Amino acid sequence: MGAESAYLHGTSPAEQGRLSLLNRLMNEAAMRELAISKGDLIIDFGCGLGQLSLDMARAAGTRLVGIERSEEQLARAERHALLDLRLGDVSDPPLRDHEWGSFDLAHARFVLEHVREPLEVVRHMVRAVRPGGRIVLQDDDHDVFRCWPEPAGFTPLWKAFQRSYDRLGCDPYIGRRLVSLLHDAGAAPVRSTWIYFGSCAAEPKWPGFVENIHSQLAGAREAMIEGGLLGSAEIDAALVAFREWAHRPEAAIWYSICWAEGARR
Ligand SMILES: C[S@@+](CC[C@H](N)C(=O)[O-])C[C@H]1O[C@@H](n2cnc3c(N)ncnc32)[C@H](O)[C@@H]1O
Repeated sequence: MGAESAYLHGTSPAEQGRLSLLNRLMNEAAMRELAISKGDLIIDFGCGLGQLSLDMARAAGTRLVGIERSEEQLARAERHALLDLRLGDVSDPPLRDHEWGSFDLAHARFVLEHVREPLEVVRHMVRAVRPGGRIVLQDDDHDVFRCWPEPAGFTPLWKAFQRSYDRLGCDPYIGRRLVSLLHDAGAAPVRSTWIYFGSCAAEPKWPGFVENIHSQLAGAREAMIEGGLLGSAEIDAALVAFREWAHRPEAAIWYSICWAEGARR
């Protein structure tokens, strides 16, 4: 079986809105960690709407290649002279012969959690960069998510959400595996860190954090019901409780995105 799998979040306008919001909340920290140099040739695996791709391309001042499987995402993606966005699967990237081994940086964020064979994808990323080139993986480990004081019904909802990944053959805990994926793909792991992704009710960015989690869970509603993971009444009640909880002054979300970096030998 290849890396092809159903994409849990889908590509509805609501989900595309969530993805844009996620980009607004996360990209500043991602760009700081990426420390892109002028002239870097970059390839972005699973580029989605291309927002982080464009930030990376601008920082490098070079044309970036983005690979995205969904026509709906590409139709709504950023359009810019610095972006060469290609329809294709990250398990069989549409690169020309001379492009393999030519990039300085291969990047993937929130993509490996949606493929069935992440190692195959990371091997392609390693092959895409030149010797000494960088491979950067950013992904979720949903087990580290905490919100407190916990909203009613949240634990069963979050558990069902995680189970909806493995029902699709995907790994909701891929974050902890990023360094070993780099190693197993033949790269030399050089760095492991987190990008903090939490907030509390007093912060201006709080509504964005709440909206991101709410729409992620609401977007997986059908998958959770169809998979027999949780009933519709429990899901809906927990989603309402989550929104109400978000108005409490002591409400907080604690989360971090796993980050791993390797170099091609
Ligand atoms: C959560 S989005 C992240 C997009 C982007 N990397 C970002 O951080 O904003 C995941 C994207 O990966 C794409 N995707 C999932 N599986 C893919 C595959 N096998 N090949 C190419 N793209 C894929 C989805 O269509 C979606 O646009």
